[in-house]
Amino acid sequence: MRVLIVGGGGREHAIALAVKKNPGVDKIFCVPGNAGIAEIAECADIKVMEFDRIVRFAREKGIDLTIVAPDDPLVGGLVDELENAGLKAFGPNKAAAVLEGSKAFAKDLMKKYNIPTAEYAVFDDAADALKYLDTAEIPIVLKADGLALGKGVLICHTLKEARNAVKTIMLDKKFGRAGNRIVIEEFLTGREVSVLSFCDGKTIRIMSSAQDHKRAGDGDTGLNTGGMGTFSPSPFFTKALQDRCMKKIFKPTLEAMSKEGRPFKGVLFFGLMLTEDGPKVLEYNARFGDPEAQVVIPRMKNDIVEVMEACVDGKLDEIELDFEDNAAVCVVLASDGYPVSYKKGFPISGLDHFKGRDNYMVFHAGTKFDDQGQIVTNGGRVLGVVAKGNDLRQARLNAYSATTWIEFDNKYMRNDIGKAIDDADL
Ligand code: AMP
Ligand code: GLY
Repeated sequence: MRVLIVGGGGREHAIALAVKKNPGVDKIFCVPGNAGIAEIAECADIKVMEFDRIVRFAREKGIDLTIVAPDDPLVGGLVDELENAGLKAFGPNKAAAVLEGSKAFAKDLMKKYNIPTAEYAVFDDAADALKYLDTAEIPIVLKADGLALGKGVLICHTLKEARNAVKTIMLDKKFGRAGNRIVIEEFLTGREVSVLSFCDGKTIRIMSSAQDHKRAGDGDTGLNTGGMGTFSPSPFFTKALQDRCMKKIFKPTLEAMSKEGRPFKGVLFFGLMLTEDGPKVLEYNARFGDPEAQVVIPRMKNDIVEVMEACVDGKLDEIELDFEDNAAVCVVLASDGYPVSYKKGFPISGLDHFKGRDNYMVFHAGTKFDDQGQIVTNGGRVLGVVAKGNDLRQARLNAYSATTWIEFDNKYMRNDIGKAIDDADL
């Protein structure tokens, strides 16, 4: 069997490593991939939005299953294009990926089907949005409707900030067309948890939970990033909460999508806030989270290819997911200055330390080979250092000790990934 993975970050590296474990897989391809993925897959220099080239590549290479991992090609309809060409693809089609592609769609769906989420209003016009703010409670949250690299959410602590945010999103078009429409929503407080699931349109199977750290600096300070680190499982997401979410959020969402004529197949990601009034949905993603995938996938005992094929074929009811009874922590090694401006091209040393150690992994996010064949930094988020442990504390210790194995100029990381664990009753 031949598998193609679309994407080129740490999440795709974690997927590739899991796919490689399937004995029926002869060859893995990845577009565009990165220097780490190139160790286990043949990478081709094709961008994730070059749909025609991807379809042609999949045909030429005789691909049996294409896994589309990032949001942009999912929301843009790559799965539809592959299916139209008679190719098997894992991921939601365009009609279903709108759950991530439009925050207004997601909010309206939740309202219609009584799925708990923050109160909100949607605006297409800046003047109306500004008028609404005059009587709104502060703090308040403003979200560009469309995809904005995870940066389209602005939490505003004063009316002035909120007014400026409307201007930034709707008039200055900081996030481009994504900001033609805006969602203004109630500010929620509580602990955040990411819950990923596999779906086949009818059946939903929940994976082990995780928590991300989105801000750039220690103590959740600084700008929002693509994610500076994760841990799994979340000790705050108890079995009782999971059962409650299954009834009130997970199943109702899948059923709602079917009723809307948009059956969801693929990975459905629930970004939840555990509020005093119970869990509420902050956002849906139509894919694995990054860097959630890096701590969740390595703990999964199931064969990922089998699970994905069951999703595509509508047979997920025949599968139960099984996770290791341990924990994992991922610390992202970034380039100093991320997410604003940073230098690239620095040689990376120490990667070999991870070879042959089952409980330690280094997933490449922004790396490439330079002209001399040396692996160098090539992005803001460079590597994800992952370690497992018997429990979260041990996994955290292991992960931080493994971060010292790697060196590159301008290496930057948060030092408090998983600090929340200390508040938990473990
Ligand atoms: P999102 O891209 O929708 O997950 O938003 C990014 C981050 O903004 C989330 O992880 C939360 O930390 C925060 N956020 C989003 N919506 C809200 C809300 N209604 N109340 C408080 N924080 C929020
Ligand atoms: N880590 C959050 C996301 O992938 O959107």
